[in-house]
Amino acid sequence: MRLLSVRLIISLIVGITLVSLGFSYYEVLREKRLLRSQLERSSEEIGESFAMNVEKSWESPRALQRTVQRFGTREHLLGVAVYDLQGKLIAITPALQPLLGTVPGDVAHAITENRAQSSFGRLDKYRIHIFALPLHKDDAVLGGLAVVHDVDYIRAQNLRTWREAFLSILVQVFFIVLITLLIVRWSIAGPIARAAQWMRALRMGRISSRQQMPDLDLFKPLAWEVVTMAESLSQARSAAENEARLREAGESMWTAERLAVQIQTRLHGGRLFVVSNREPYIHQRDGKSLEVTVPPSGLVTALEPVLTACDGTWIAHGSGNADKEVVDGHDRLRVPPENPHYTLRRIWLSKEEEEGYYYGFSNEGLWPLSHIAHTRPIFRERDWQLYQEVNRKFAAAVIEEIADTENPVVLVQDYHFALLPQLLKEKRPDVRVAIFWHIPWPNPEAFGICPWQRQLVDGLLGADLIGFHVQSHCNNFLQTVDRVVESRVDWEHFSVTRQNHRTLVRPFPISVDFSDDKLIEPDSYGSDYLDRTGLLHSLGVETPFVGVGVDRVDYTKGIHERFRAIERFLEKYPKYQGQFTFLQIGAPSRTHIKRYHDLMGELEAEAERINWRFQSGKWKPILFLNRQHSHAEIDRYYRAADLCLVTSLHDGMNLVAKEFLAARHDERGVLILSQFTGAARELRDALLVNPYDIDQTAEAIRVALEMDPDEKQMRVHRMRRIIRENNIHRWAGNLITELCELRLDGADRPHGVRGNVTAA
Ligand code: G6P
Repeated sequence: MRLLSVRLIISLIVGITLVSLGFSYYEVLREKRLLRSQLERSSEEIGESFAMNVEKSWESPRALQRTVQRFGTREHLLGVAVYDLQGKLIAITPALQPLLGTVPGDVAHAITENRAQSSFGRLDKYRIHIFALPLHKDDAVLGGLAVVHDVDYIRAQNLRTWREAFLSILVQVFFIVLITLLIVRWSIAGPIARAAQWMRALRMGRISSRQQMPDLDLFKPLAWEVVTMAESLSQARSAAENEARLREAGESMWTAERLAVQIQTRLHGGRLFVVSNREPYIHQRDGKSLEVTVPPSGLVTALEPVLTACDGTWIAHGSGNADKEVVDGHDRLRVPPENPHYTLRRIWLSKEEEEGYYYGFSNEGLWPLSHIAHTRPIFRERDWQLYQEVNRKFAAAVIEEIADTENPVVLVQDYHFALLPQLLKEKRPDVRVAIFWHIPWPNPEAFGICPWQRQLVDGLLGADLIGFHVQSHCNNFLQTVDRVVESRVDWEHFSVTRQNHRTLVRPFPISVDFSDDKLIEPDSYGSDYLDRTGLLHSLGVETPFVGVGVDRVDYTKGIHERFRAIERFLEKYPKYQGQFTFLQIGAPSRTHIKRYHDLMGELEAEAERINWRFQSGKWKPILFLNRQHSHAEIDRYYRAADLCLVTSLHDGMNLVAKEFLAARHDERGVLILSQFTGAARELRDALLVNPYDIDQTAEAIRVALEMDPDEKQMRVHRMRRIIRENNIHRWAGNLITELCELRLDGADRPHGVRGNVTAA
């Protein structure tokens, strides 16, 4: 830094001096020219008036001498002299006499050429200007005169200007250097030193990359790059430490890195294509600012490492209001935005398509059809048409994306795309397709009410692999297939063969990211992260016991039943009135659908009714926080709670249960879990309840609050171990590995001919 300062100072001094000297030189030159031309003008005026007077007094030597005396006293004038036609001196001012003996050349020229002469020159020790004029009488030349000025004052003035310029250069250099050094110190050296300190602390592992980087002022873009690089380094280090720890402990845990390596090997250099309705990055414009959000979904965590490793493509509905602004001519962009590694291809849907395919058929038809939650599915012919159209639109996009890829692997997500596998296979039999159905598959009777059940099943059977969360959903699906289409269901291998095409049906229980559990530094979340009092204070609540619920506001989540269980609990155990508050985070979802819109109002009214019944002073039993919360915010609630209530009436898996456990590094808190969730199959140490049995849930709340701390710890510990081992990376790893290891028979047949699939 010191060397930089010295170099900077020298450069500034030399630079400023040279520039200022240049300007001063020009200024002096300009001034000199001005003064000289002023002098010439004034000499001319004096000369002409002097000539007139000399001509008048030519005949009288005394009068001539008087005139000479009178004119010889002007400012800067050295003197005047008069000569006759032969160049003989006739009259002269005394000061000039010793200097001008003979006729000056200019006067001689003026006489011979009969016109004025003007020149600068030297006379003895003087720098002078001579203005010479011919003298006339009746047009005949009588002689000549000289007006001689001393021009040393011009030189003196020039020197003065130079002196002032030097002085001002000196002052300027001093202040500019000073100001520059201060700016460098405040805006460059200071931030760089702070950043260096931050990076050193990061390198030495004293802080985490989550800890905010000091403000780098002018270097914001550079800071972004540094932060991103620091994050990658810190992640790489965490991953390496984690791997080493796991190796040491003899554990074989799935991490993002392991997933990436495993899938890269399985893909044999091929590429992976993921299709989902919801996109992993949404661009939203709010006035001038463009924001990128990641929807709160485990899918991004699960699939991003794989897509990154093989530079894959994610095809999804572009739903953000600024999504179109950032794509290229093929509707693609590279993501993650701050560290691009794979391609996101956006599909645009019209309002009508979104209405019919997403809100209508997917969420008013298939969603209630698949969940036994007593909301009637609505099947509209128009919605079905649009569902088919959008499936075809996505299929066309996938075909376009995989055009140049040999043996592509396509992973389709969810009930929005039941028809996609078959559409893809028809065009590209060599494609490996899996579809993961994230919601339950109901029994064949329940599914049978769908007017288009055969087409849906057929569409799904185009896949080589169909995944569900749990075995019972696989069984329900196979039973449905058995009833709906002509096929051979192999119950031993859980597969279906229809028209020579074999589809495997397997359970892959989805999970949460648990791989970096041990590496989270508690202080990296800020001091109030674990501060339950602070959280309650910010909510304006005072209570010794806290329960938490986190859901999309959806009728399948049993939020009504949950509220009623809380009411029953307080009614049955009045000693908990004033002692227990339930914090319900309810993220608004699909509010465009009337049932969802109404549900929000109903839940607000229900919370209000129960609160009105029990609340006193600053305490109330239910806080219904119905807005979107970030992951970090939700984590804070999980950690503050004594218990978490998951009371879904029917749920494919329910990741809230797993997220709650993943957040409890302290191994405290009790999970009360609906027996109708997929998660209940794995998390046997939760307090399992039938959410319809209000009394049972109320009792579970009491048991949870009064449970012995050691038992709580033991239960959470066991469940956390299960989730740690069966994390989101294992889910993605198992699903994609199984898909990659299938042997596709007939993949080399011409397009349009069905391939035959056998398990490897
Ligand atoms: C739930 C389901 C997922 C589904 C998602 C869609 O999380 O379990 O299977 O993909 O909702 O939510 P969205 O807000 O996109 O309709």
